[in-house]
Amino acid sequence: MSESIYRQIGGREAVKRVVNDFYDRVLSDEQLVGFFEGLEMEELRAHQVQFISSVADGPVEYTGDDMREAHAHLDIREDDFDAVATYLERALRENGVGDDDVEAIMTEVAALKAPVIGR
Ligand code: HEM
Repeated sequence: MSESIYRQIGGREAVKRVVNDFYDRVLSDEQLVGFFEGLEMEELRAHQVQFISSVADGPVEYTGDDMREAHAHLDIREDDFDAVATYLERALRENGVGDDDVEAIMTEVAALKAPVIGR
């Protein structure tokens, strides 16, 4: 992926909008909200911004845990993962990210399914 994905989608501010929109959607879903109860959401949002920025090849370093470690204790099922991925895709599209960029980002996210669900 070239750096243009991060730039093309509008840089840091755009990624922040996407991530806020994404968590609003996730936390409005009864199936998912329980996973996030009692967590420091500001920190999670900040890590997610870093993570998406680095997936989009932006000039940002991700400093959180690796994906398998971050999710290992959570007992996430495949349908939970699919629901979260769908919200991310919607958040990208509804914040004006173009089809090709959405596809490139979602391809990277699909590759995280096995580590996130602990397979
Ligand atoms: C779509 C792929 C996903 C990506 C890219 C992703 C990304 C991340 C990132 C970057 C963190 C922060 C790790 C850190 O702070 O060190 C995190 C933590 C977390 N994720 Fe995910 N995640 C994904 C899927 C999911 C799913 C499907 C769930 C649950 C249904 C989930 C629930 C959580 C929770 C609860 C935490 C906080 C863990 C803790 O602090 O104890 N994530 N995720």
